[in-house]
Amino acid sequence: MGSELVLKHIHKTFADGSLVLNDINLELPKGTKLSILGPSGSGKTTLLRLIAGLAAPGSGTFSFAGELMNDVPPYKRNFGMMFQDFALFPHLNVEDNIAFGLKMKGMDRARSDARVGEMLAMMGLSEFRKRHIDELSGGERQRVALARTLAPQPRLLMLDEPLSALDRSLRKHLLIELTQIISPLNITTIFVTHDHEEAFAAGDLVLIMNQGEIEQKGLPEELIRFPKNDWVRDFLK
Ligand SMILES: Nc1ncnc2c1ncn2[C@@H]1O[C@H](COP(=O)(O)OP(=O)(O)O)[C@@H](O)[C@H]1O
Ligand SMILES: [Mg+2]
Repeated sequence: MGSELVLKHIHKTFADGSLVLNDINLELPKGTKLSILGPSGSGKTTLLRLIAGLAAPGSGTFSFAGELMNDVPPYKRNFGMMFQDFALFPHLNVEDNIAFGLKMKGMDRARSDARVGEMLAMMGLSEFRKRHIDELSGGERQRVALARTLAPQPRLLMLDEPLSALDRSLRKHLLIELTQIISPLNITTIFVTHDHEEAFAAGDLVLIMNQGEIEQKGLPEELIRFPKNDWVRDFLK
């Protein structure tokens, strides 16, 4: 099968003239679980924003499922993005947070209620349906955020440092929880992190970024055994 997500020669320069993405090329088959690993400032979030349609590349093309996406607005891409701070709506309860994207899509109430029920069950949150966001723990909030992102059945799931707002002690546990929920879904997933242990645990394939460029892409064991250069080897220590 061909690739679902295809980035070709993506460049991005900000208004101040700084080159933030330099010739990014990437092809992912459907269902790939990719981790993007790189230090802070390496361009990970910028790349996700381009894929989501929240920012435009200076040059290069992005295609998904055979369709050129460069000029497709974000809401027509049907991609899901989960942010570091979860960006939940504090004034809405759990079910209204999860239903948000369904409402935006114009789904009728009965179908939306059913889908919210499915998502709550999948996340083990059924008893929290009417709870307010500020009455939830960090881990519960993460599951609500994931439920809200997955409810509209996105074609692509993007997670931007989803664990970094949480306590260190929670992180390992929630990473396992997160991957257990996502891995059985046949959804192409991009997990962004600056932590190599997280990247290796979350992705079948890991792409290492540095200063706006792809340094190396491979299976976790390949990267560790055969780092392409000193920078990659030192970064993975
Ligand atoms: N809107 C912007 N204008 C100018 N520079 C930006 C903007 N957004 C990000 N940058 C810069 O682009 C680089 C990459 O940022 P980012 O994609 O957020 O990296 P990461 O997510 O890997 O930490 C950083 O040097 C950052 O300061
Ligand atoms: Mg970032």
